[in-house]
Amino acid sequence: MTLLVTGGAGFIGANFVLDWIAAVGEPVVNLDKLTYAGNLANLASLAKDARHVFVQGDINDRALVAGLLAKHRPRAVVHLAAESHVDRSIHGPADFIATNVVGTFSLLEEARAHWTALAEPDKAAFRFLHVSTDEVYGSLGPHDPAFSETTPYAPNSPYSASKAGSDHLVRAYHHTYGLPTLITNCSNNYGPYQFPEKLIPLMIVNALAGKPLPVYGDGQNVRDWLYVGDHCTAIRAALQRGRPGEVYNIGGAAEMKNIDLVRTLCATLDSLRPCAAGSYADLIAFVKDRPGHDRRYAIDARKIRSELGWAPAESFVSGLRKTVQWYLDHGDWIAGVQSGEYRKWIDLNYGNRESQIANR
Ligand code: NAD
Ligand code: DAU
Repeated sequence: MTLLVTGGAGFIGANFVLDWIAAVGEPVVNLDKLTYAGNLANLASLAKDARHVFVQGDINDRALVAGLLAKHRPRAVVHLAAESHVDRSIHGPADFIATNVVGTFSLLEEARAHWTALAEPDKAAFRFLHVSTDEVYGSLGPHDPAFSETTPYAPNSPYSASKAGSDHLVRAYHHTYGLPTLITNCSNNYGPYQFPEKLIPLMIVNALAGKPLPVYGDGQNVRDWLYVGDHCTAIRAALQRGRPGEVYNIGGAAEMKNIDLVRTLCATLDSLRPCAAGSYADLIAFVKDRPGHDRRYAIDARKIRSELGWAPAESFVSGLRKTVQWYLDHGDWIAGVQSGEYRKWIDLNYGNRESQIANR
């Protein structure tokens, strides 16, 4: 019994692999290209564990994927490999189409070939679980109901459009070929090992370095936050108990305006690592908005809660405190990911993003 996990050296993937091996104990073959976002340091605790087999490679390398399926005969594919950052998709969408759309297609084709040749009961038990995002549903108004599994798709960024394309392909492979697929659409994650290009870790590393905390636009955009460990237990529940062909929305019922989140984060840092110069909140700087910035996301997670009995274990306050403490304890990890490439990205994304509003 083995899982083939793609993107398992990234933020959610690494948390999933660590959680899976600790909780289930079943071996994992981890296929990851190790882009800027992939980091084997995330999996250092498994370095001597025979249950984790790491393979560096691209999901678009069909011969490699076919060989891994034939050799390891996994009972499921858990597909997390993706380009995942909205701002990067605005600066350069090509990689998002290559990995998220074409890569998912390549993986589906190889999984279908493998699954078609399986004998019963392995064929019926096989699963292809595609990890996706709430961003495929577009942007909500302040009083709109939260996204459910039947909300029409309306992606607004190259990233969300590429994830929507991949979701449609997965759906079609179930409908047309009968491949036993599952799709999960999750809200914003935060927690250990998140690359400091995303809001929460970027704010933590900037605050600790005494740098400005760049809040886009008016800071009133709303996201629905979920601790990454809770996302991992939800993926596990969908894999173990989800019905093939179904979609499950995952979220923590923790909607928050960005500016409120950043202020809460600063208060958490103030209490865990007080700064002699005053509050970290003094570093908040409003900057030019992200083009096409979605105003609000919110997830209706009633289906996964009632059908699969899943519920998050962390509140936003407890999850955020754990996360801040993790970054405070892992200065080496932060230094390791802040390479020359990271600095180039910070210059590209923030260099010309002039300060918009001095104080709000
Ligand atoms: P991440 O950017 O941290 O990690 C992505 C991983 O995929 C990296 O290890 C990278 O090396 C690998 N990868 C990229 N292209 C590849 C390719 N062509 N072949 C093989 N490996 C490749 O992303 P994340 O935040 O961990 O997100 C994981 C998945 O979850 C993505 O599919 C994302 O769309 C989805 N998701 C993320 C969030 C979130 O808040 N981060 C929320 C919902 C859904
Ligand atoms: O909703 C799920 C999605 O959440 C995932 O599918 C994506 O992979 C993940 O990156 C995330 O997308 P967002 O664009 O919501 O995440 P990000 O952390 O980039 O931004 C969160 C909010 O904070 C968003 O409204 C933009 C804002 N922001 C972000 C950054 C990096 C700022 O105000 N300043 C910043 O510097």
